[in-house]
Order: sequence, then C-alpha cells, then structure tokens
Amino acid sequence: MKQHDILIVGAGLAGMRAAVAAPPDLDVAVLSKVHPVRSHSVAAQGGINAALGADDSWEAHAFDTTKGGLYLGDQDAIEAMCHEAPDAIHELERLGVIFSRNDQGGIAQRPFGGAGFPRTCYAADRTGHAILHAMYEQLLKRRITVYEEWYVTSLIVEEGACRGVVAWDLIHGGLQTIRAKAVILATGGSGRVFLTSTNSVINTGDGMALAYRAGAPLADMEFVQFHPTTLKGTGILITEGARGEGGYLLNTRGERFMKTYAPQQMELANRSTVSLAIGQEILEGRGVDGCVLLDLRHLGRQRILERLPQIRELAIEFAGLDPIETPIPVRPGAHYQMGGIRTNQWTETDIAGLYAAGECACVSVHGANRLGGNSLLETIVFGRRAGIRAGDYVRTVTSQPLKTDHLSMSQARVQRLLVQEGSIKAWQIREELGQTMSLNLGLVRTQESMSTALSAIAELTHRAAFVTVQDKGLVFNTDLVQALELQCLLDVAGTIVASALARTESRGAHYRSDYQARDDEHWLTHSLIRRTEAGSVLTHDPVMITRFPPT
Ligand code: FUM
Repeated sequence: MKQHDILIVGAGLAGMRAAVAAPPDLDVAVLSKVHPVRSHSVAAQGGINAALGADDSWEAHAFDTTKGGLYLGDQDAIEAMCHEAPDAIHELERLGVIFSRNDQGGIAQRPFGGAGFPRTCYAADRTGHAILHAMYEQLLKRRITVYEEWYVTSLIVEEGACRGVVAWDLIHGGLQTIRAKAVILATGGSGRVFLTSTNSVINTGDGMALAYRAGAPLADMEFVQFHPTTLKGTGILITEGARGEGGYLLNTRGERFMKTYAPQQMELANRSTVSLAIGQEILEGRGVDGCVLLDLRHLGRQRILERLPQIRELAIEFAGLDPIETPIPVRPGAHYQMGGIRTNQWTETDIAGLYAAGECACVSVHGANRLGGNSLLETIVFGRRAGIRAGDYVRTVTSQPLKTDHLSMSQARVQRLLVQEGSIKAWQIREELGQTMSLNLGLVRTQESMSTALSAIAELTHRAAFVTVQDKGLVFNTDLVQALELQCLLDVAGTIVASALARTESRGAHYRSDYQARDDEHWLTHSLIRRTEAGSVLTHDPVMITRFPPT
C-alpha cells in the first residue's frame, strides 16, 4: 500500500503551490488525472491581481473584490488574500515566473473589470502557462512524488477524519489505496456541467463531488460565472485582458453598447454586468449571428502581437480571422464556479485532515461574482496556506489502521461499470446534461427553467446507473474514467440547481428574471448543501463582514 504524510489531489496551480509550501521534511505526493502541465490552470490568460502600485493598496483591492462579489464574499478571507497578494507575486517571480515588464522594468499591470486600479500582473496573455511551468519546475527540483494520470474514486474518511484515497491508475489499470494523514483537494472547477465552457474537458467537478459524497458541505454552488467573451462556436476564452488593453465591444450597429449599461466603466464593468449586457443586446436583435464583436483593430498590430499573441492565434485557428484586421465574434460562456467545498480561510473543511484550495473550494473570496485576475491569486495564496496548514496537522496525528475495506468498495463500483451491458453511453448523458444546464441555468434563470433542470438531472442520474463502458480493458481506459466523471458532473449539477432554486433573489452571476432585485434582508447568506443519508440538505450561513458594510 502506498503511504504519504500529505497527498494533494490535483496538480494545477493550487495543488502545486500547496506541494511547494508543505514542509520539506514531510513526505508529500501529488496525484493528477493528467500530466501536471496539462492542468486547466495552463489556460488562464489575462493575469493575476495584486496591489503593487504606489497609489494602490491591498485595502482597495479588498474593497473591489468585496463589492464585485456583491458582498457575498467572506471579508476575513478576502482581506487575507489581498494582503498576501503582493508578496505572493514577488515570490512567484523569485520562483522563476517571467512576468511582462513596464517601461521602468517593474512588473507590468493592466486594468481588469471591476478594479479601481490597473492591478493585474501578466505574462502577455499566457499568464497561467508561465506560472504553471515555473511551479512544475519547483516540484521537480524538490523531487516531490507525482502520480501522473491517476483518478481518485473515493476519499477514505473514518471517524470524522480523512485518511487517504482510493485511486485508479490510468496507465496500468487497477485501483489502489493511497494512505495519507492529510489530503488536499485542488481539483479545479466543474465548467463541464455546461455544454460549452471555457473549461478544459477535464473540469468535471471531481473534488467537489468527492468531498460532497464524504459529507463535507459545498457552499454557494448557484454562483457560476459566465465570462463575457468566449469565442463563437467553440466557447474558447478570449481574455478580459483584450478589453484591459483597450478593446471595444460592438453590436450590429457598430455601437459601443456598454455605454447604455455601464457608462463609467464601459467594457471594464464587472463580469456579470458585461455578460448580461451582451445577452440583452443579442436578445433584442442587436447581435451578430448570436454574438457581439470584440474590436481590437485600433490597438494596432504591434500591441496585439506583444500583449495578446495567444488571442490572435486562437482567433486565426478557431474562427478563421485575424483580429489585427477583423473584430472577433464573442458571447458569454460558462467560465468559473464561485462555489465549492466549504473551507475556512486556512483551507480546512468540515472533515479533519481534508483541505481544499483553488476553484474546487469556496473560501469564500469571490462572493456572487469573481473579479478577473483573482482566481490565479486565490490558487497561489490558498494553495500555499493549504500546504502549510496540512503540514501542521500531520504532525499531530498518527496513522491508524483502517476499519473498512474501502478498496473493495471501489472495486465493486468499477467492476459494475465494466461488466454492465446495455446501450447507454456516458458521453450521451454528459451531452444531455450540458444541454439542460446551458438552457436552464445560463445567464438568466427562472423557477420554471430551474425546475425543468432539476427533473432532467434526476432522470439522467437514473439512466447513468445503467451506463455501459465499451472498453473492457484495464490500460488507459478513458471510457471508464468518463463514466466515473459523469457521476461527478451529475452530483455537482444537482447541487447547483438545488442551491439556485432556493435563492429567490438576483445577485451577481445568479440572475433570476422572476426575482430581479438583490435582497440583502433575506439573502446575504451562504448556501450550504450537504449529502446525508436522507438525501441532500440545504442550509444557509451568515456572511463574514469586517470592514465593508453592504451598500
Ligand atoms: O479573461 C481572462 O483572462 C480570465 C481571467 C480570469 O478569469 O481570472
């Protein structure tokens, strides 16, 4: 049996940052269902926020984050994140991240939506790529064990404490128990519950589902951010950095329509405002083939090549146009889950020895609407905190023999999937789920649309129990992994819909046309959803307010 002090599940930025922060005398391992540099953090484009400027301050950053999140974020956690941000950036630089520079040779910063200062540090439009590769180098330098291409099927929780995982070895086939005194979940988001998303295909909410099944609550799952600018057809992210560099949004009449919706901030209003504005333009017939246009032409060739090279490449490859000469057709698309595994600001969950950081967690710093550039920051700040905190914890516990045969339970589950015959395929249900979620839980929601989604998910969950895995082999059985991922997608989708149905107000990314107003009197609360033996139970918890009273 494999055994470590700390096992980190997920090798994106939060996971790798946790590994690098964990005390070097401990036995730390990282497990990922893909090679670490294929983690979704690599796709982050626009940048990472920190108040570095002489006129800026971490307090201003904390205020923008709180206000942008419609006061639903916990202000103690927001303060911690914004306060630690400048040091976190300088530390990244020391670890080898090559940030773009300003004319004085300092770290360049660009404006992002909802921010009072240009405080988004970047590496052209490949910021996630630059940071992820530097972190991977650090992992190699520290000789940290990496289980590449392993998939966790369950957490081992006994007597209220997490004691490891059971995981499937994709390369060789077969399940194994991996014991650990502490487990950190850093598995990223769940964007693939929607049909199109900026998320990579691996973002299937695995960590959220694992924690939920183990009894940890998920918080604020109804808040799914729609990024205003995703590429027509594919839904690929077109960074907010494009608007930060001065790009315009135009409707079919050639108007900069944001002047109607946010005359001060224009294209750099917060994301839910811009996404809803684009949705409205399209709905009222001022769109262009189901999109609006992102015009970068006035930035000039040189600036586009220097600051937005990836965006140009993506537009050429996937839309057949060069933004130096032609505006890019864009529309809002599912991008980010603000909710997740409930943790405190030290990344501790309700289960002893189980930690969560990054998009799979809800600390909560983003509230009802995340500011662009704060997700990379969250991974770095809270990934580091998770590594430190888990390190402290493992010194206080001794490894106990397991009381239950968790391996056999997972083996029975996998075996059932492998032998089951029939005609239902995982990908079919995944596609139907995506359609249902995109149609009914998109930019605008109603009681009726969400109830439709709830019934559909119940029906899909029933059918998913009869899924057939066509590949009966053990080696690199992606068909089997898809079937396991599907169960996570369905569980997570169920929590999104149940939490959204209950919230009878509009706030940030949760916009209901049947309850259009924000209602602080009743809904300045976190939604908490737990799985119990009697089914899922939804409760509400107060928001932590420190220095910024809701306005
Ligand atoms: O637009 C972007 O580059 C995305 C950034 C973010 O979601 O933080």
